[in-house]
Amino acid sequence: PKLYIITPTYRRPEQQPEMTRLAQTLLHVKNIKWLVIEDADKPTPEITALLKRTGIDFEHLVAPMPAKYKNKKGSKPRGVSNRNRGIEWIRENASDGVMYFADDDNTYDIRIFEQMRHTKKVSMWPVGLLTKVGLSTPVVKNGQFHGFYDGWMANRKFPVDMAEFAVSVKFLLQRPKATMPYKPGYEEDGFLKSLAPLEPKELELLANGCTEILVWHTQSKKNSPSAAINATQYKDTNLIELKK
Ligand code: UGA
Ligand code: MN
Repeated sequence: PKLYIITPTYRRPEQQPEMTRLAQTLLHVKNIKWLVIEDADKPTPEITALLKRTGIDFEHLVAPMPAKYKNKKGSKPRGVSNRNRGIEWIRENASDGVMYFADDDNTYDIRIFEQMRHTKKVSMWPVGLLTKVGLSTPVVKNGQFHGFYDGWMANRKFPVDMAEFAVSVKFLLQRPKATMPYKPGYEEDGFLKSLAPLEPKELELLANGCTEILVWHTQSKKNSPSAAINATQYKDTNLIELKK
């Protein structure tokens, strides 16, 4: 089965390094379609160039965050317009396979992609480095789904991270209304609830019965307020030149 990997991304100094790392992870994964969707009005040329260089089968789309959310203060629904655009692309272009939301800044052990490839409905597995407890995961007892562990339950039916699950494309297509809500903190729960009927006990539990961590919710430190687009734009004050 083909994997449809939906990656939301947006312009910032860390975009190029994050996308370079993710691209080089995905170069190790066969039979994928990488849907890279920018929260932007038009595609970033450096990202298009990066995608072309990799040789990965990709689609480069844009889906700006609606202004009413972007201009609101406080937490924003990050990556939601992008992911819904990805879902729309899959509805129009795919008939089987498996879809996964891969944020541009997480760290993926490539073994998880081979495991999720066989998802029949919805599969799940642990994600490390999330909240102060450092883990979000389904809890498995005697090989069966037993509950969820997460540092922020918030009354969610599915208290999981975006990186914690994959969905069969056929299963998604049978649910024409499934969509991700613009609801900070509740995007995963809202999307998974929109896949009803779906009960936690139907989940396919991967990563050796949810005992192994194969995905980490890593976040990059903000190193610099600006990114050098090329390596020849010098600021005089930071330059030493050889005298003739
Ligand atoms: C957590 C979850 O893991 C995300 O899946 C969820 O989207 C996010 O919270 C949220 O709901 O706010 P976190 O690391 O806090 O992730 O968020 P980011 O990594 O900053 O953003 C998630 C994804 O959306 C990234 O792929 C990022 O490139 C993209 N994004 C972020 C945008 O497209 N636009 C933005 O303005 C910000
Ligand atoms: Mn992130």
